[in-house]
Amino acid sequence: MSALKISSEQINRQRDFSYKIKSINDDFERKNARKKKMFIATFGCQMNSRDSEKIEGMLFEMGFEKTDNEKDADFIIYNTCCVRENAENKVYGNLGYLKNIKKEKPELIIALCGCMLQEESAVDIIKKKYKHVDLAFGTFNLYKLPELLYTRIESGRTVFDIWKEHKEIAENLPSIRKYSYKASVNIMYGCDNFCSYCIVPYVRGRERSRQSKDIIKEINELVKDGVKEVTLLGQNVNSYGKGLDENISFAKLLRMINDIDGLKRIRFMTSHPKDLSDELIDAMAELDKVCKHIHLPFQAGNNDILKKMNRRYTKESYIELTEKIKRKIPNISITTDIIIGFPGEGEKEVSDTIDVIKKVEFSGAFTFLYSKRTGTPAASMENQISEEDMKKGFNKVLDVLNPIIYKKSSEHIGKVYEVLCEEQGDDGFISGRLDDNSLVHFKGEKKLCGEFVNVNITDCKTFYLIGEIIKD
Ligand code: SAH
Ligand code: SF4
Ligand code: F3S
Repeated sequence: MSALKISSEQINRQRDFSYKIKSINDDFERKNARKKKMFIATFGCQMNSRDSEKIEGMLFEMGFEKTDNEKDADFIIYNTCCVRENAENKVYGNLGYLKNIKKEKPELIIALCGCMLQEESAVDIIKKKYKHVDLAFGTFNLYKLPELLYTRIESGRTVFDIWKEHKEIAENLPSIRKYSYKASVNIMYGCDNFCSYCIVPYVRGRERSRQSKDIIKEINELVKDGVKEVTLLGQNVNSYGKGLDENISFAKLLRMINDIDGLKRIRFMTSHPKDLSDELIDAMAELDKVCKHIHLPFQAGNNDILKKMNRRYTKESYIELTEKIKRKIPNISITTDIIIGFPGEGEKEVSDTIDVIKKVEFSGAFTFLYSKRTGTPAASMENQISEEDMKKGFNKVLDVLNPIIYKKSSEHIGKVYEVLCEEQGDDGFISGRLDDNSLVHFKGEKKLCGEFVNVNITDCKTFYLIGEIIKD
């Protein structure tokens, strides 16, 4: 089966709606001597950040101008996340606050999209408790934003358009990138892994890969536009290519991207340990543009817990895998995700997680308290852990993890690295990233943002390095 794409007729149809809204917005501008303003809030992971760039691109085509001040906006859209309960609570909290703004400004249009909208229980709550939401759509029909917004404007009705599943991929949507020198590129959508705690497969649908020629075309255009670093996005990039007609793997895709002239760095996330092939490790070792960093979530160290999580590897095979990676790619940095407090995870089980941390010596980790997600198998498992016990485990893990991260960080001191300068903070310091994804702060001029410089690392904190630019 080849990758299914949304037809160009459908995309053109959306462009027509977009032009109709633009002419309404142009009228508004003539009458009010200002453009209509949009405010976009993004919750969740890089998938959502990338989707928000597309939303911004579509709204820009419709004639909206961006504002960072929610109170000034004529159109507000929240791109939501539901991976943990606190992500959802943030959205509900903000929605409560919008109720008052809407009272003062009834012409304001409030829209919701993203992962929460694919969750029936959340949609019920929104429909019942947050009646001031004007427009809502899910993760499968983002490309229909122009039509849905037009319907809302013309009819004045509340518009909810949520699809259960959709296999087609929308290519060629307009987008406005957050950074000029780095960009994220989706290589696949959805997830088929069904880890028992995770809601992503239910809200993002089945795994589907983009054709390599579409990915290469997009990256070529980005490079022409000044992009030096790309991050390839997928919930599990290691299974890229499954289901496509072409004979391709993630390692092969990396080789093709490495050949793109003008591109300097390639990053990717996330890798699932169960699918990480020797072919990929060899490609990472060999390809000069592929950054020496891998994000390899292990989630938990105890084999019974891993089994209940449906992760399909063991503590021992995970450790072995990281040892192989380190052998083949010296100086690689390995980062991870850890969940603490999965059902049945007591002190003994947490000590297995700590053991993995000690053996692998991660350069960084995101640690999460387990959050029960309705509809996932883990939600109905016995032995749910109390919040108090979860927090105890969490602190124990951090007590071991942070000194290790500090130690890994300090290994950079006294060495010189090539750094991509990213942003200048209020203190005048530039922040940038090493090839291994470490963050570094150093004095420098704003014009360096987007450029590569050599930086001598002079000191470190747990989560960042401090350095000085080497002048040639
Ligand atoms: N596809 C990626 C991760 C996507 S979600 C992967 O498999 O690595 C990002 C992280 O959120 C996960 O790695 C996991 O650590 C965490 N997570 C997912 N569901 C969670 C839940 N119910 N409670 C707490 N953390 C969760
Ligand atoms: Fe969730 Fe597992 Fe898929 Fe990652 S691989 S998105 S944790 S189901
Ligand atoms: Fe990402 Fe959250 Fe959705 S982590 S895929 S935005 S549920």
